[in-house]
Amino acid sequence: MITASSTKRRRLIVGNWKMNGNRHTNAELLARVSARWQGEHAAEVVVCPPYPYFQQAREMLGNSPVVLGAQSVSEHGSGAFTGEVSASMLADWHCKYVIIGHNERRRLQHETDVQVAQKFLAVQAAGLIPILCVGESLEMREEGRALEVIDRQLRAVIEQTGCAAFVNAVIAYEPVWAVGTGKTATPEQAQEVHHFIRTQLGNLGTQVRVLYGGSVKGHNAGQLFALADIDGALLGGASLDADEFLDICAAAD
Ligand code: PGA
Repeated sequence: MITASSTKRRRLIVGNWKMNGNRHTNAELLARVSARWQGEHAAEVVVCPPYPYFQQAREMLGNSPVVLGAQSVSEHGSGAFTGEVSASMLADWHCKYVIIGHNERRRLQHETDVQVAQKFLAVQAAGLIPILCVGESLEMREEGRALEVIDRQLRAVIEQTGCAAFVNAVIAYEPVWAVGTGKTATPEQAQEVHHFIRTQLGNLGTQVRVLYGGSVKGHNAGQLFALADIDGALLGGASLDADEFLDICAAAD
């Protein structure tokens, strides 16, 4: 169903498979997703498999409008960066979106705000759309400093790119304490941060899609999508279960 808000900012559901799956489980998941998600939809649906399965995903999605996204990218164009993948390589695979600044990369791979800003630029330079993740830790939330963290993470990118670059970008608010934990931000908490993110983007604030991520499941998606400033979801666990994933996509549609 097309609602007033989705006609202005197209709803977006992004499935981040993280480091999960194998050829067999992927084949089952992709077959079910592509069978059910066919034709035109108000919501756009993206799957982000691990790189080695891009070809499998591309082949199996066939005519389905589900598009391909990547979980990460190098900030560098090419060269001696063992194990890295460049934005132009992702463009070669007709990848449309690239997740950057995911909290698992910030925490586990020690990616800095500056690196995240460089990745944002590299993704756009290759003609792809960055999905910039921001979000506070539990400690910061409990200290009442959630918005301060979001502000710092956003500003680090805006200083390098300017606000105008966000016309071709998506932001995902993912409270670190909600990712993979089964805890979801309350609608009030999510709405407060989403609204804050829009105000930080000035005049563009109402045009940019802002997703929520962190334990979004079939049972809570509808409630989140009902909020004025939430344009969809970045899913982890729920994107590995075809029925749950598709139920969430349908709730956004
Ligand atoms: P989750 O992960 O849905 O499993 O909480 C979300 C994410 O990491 O993007």
